[in-house]
Amino acid sequence: MKKKIIVANWKLNGNIQTISNFLEYVKLKISLYLKCNTVVIAPSTIYLERVYRDIKDINIFLGAQNVDVNKQGAFTGETSILMLKDIGVKYVIVGHSERRYFHGENNKLITQKFGLIKELNLIPILCIGESETEKKQNKTKEILRNQLNMILEKFGEKAFENTIIAYEPIWAIGTGVSADPIYVQLIHKFIKDYINECNIKNQQNIIIQYGGSVNSKNAKSFLEQPDIDGLLVGSASLIYEEFFNILEIANNISLK
Ligand code: PGA
Repeated sequence: MKKKIIVANWKLNGNIQTISNFLEYVKLKISLYLKCNTVVIAPSTIYLERVYRDIKDINIFLGAQNVDVNKQGAFTGETSILMLKDIGVKYVIVGHSERRYFHGENNKLITQKFGLIKELNLIPILCIGESETEKKQNKTKEILRNQLNMILEKFGEKAFENTIIAYEPIWAIGTGVSADPIYVQLIHKFIKDYINECNIKNQQNIIIQYGGSVNSKNAKSFLEQPDIDGLLVGSASLIYEEFFNILEIANNISLK
């Protein structure tokens, strides 16, 4: 059985009260859902330690939403990979479209961050995906190839070892309009085949999640697809009942 990996990306949301409520619920219920799922919670940087305190003994992993390209020094306002590792982070989201578009992160910077995450033996969650215009222009595959090539060129055959790829079509993120599961399956297969063609080691272990308006109503239709290995969940992960419904669905599918 291959575990599904379900990541909660809380983005710029939450406060001590809402996070405490969420974690109370997690502590009560999570044991039911960990057999077949790997669960990661990625709060805002300021709450990483708060979340870690409650999850470190229950086999849920801590994720960071971002990291700086510098390890230390005079970089006001940034967070280093050394600090993330120091406080218990295991997964780091990199290349999220919100960072690409609102913070001007390009493939070069993302590749540098990706390298740092790997260097420290943490697991990158590399987000890739096309915009609505690129999709309309039939450029999806070209965009995805470009996003993957930067990583492949720099890190060679081991590029995707111990890495998660999150396919997140930009037009589906936070819009309430998720992509069609059959379309996503085709894209995931395309990504796996492309990586395969590049003679990458252990390609059978490549993990690709889908993200973009996932909720408990559509999670099943995604997770049933053979090449969708998990979900990156944004707004639906803020409501604990909703997030646990998704975990239950993932659990049931893995058990089949
Ligand atoms: P969403 O966000 O589920 O709110 O669409 C997903 C993501 O950006 O990772």
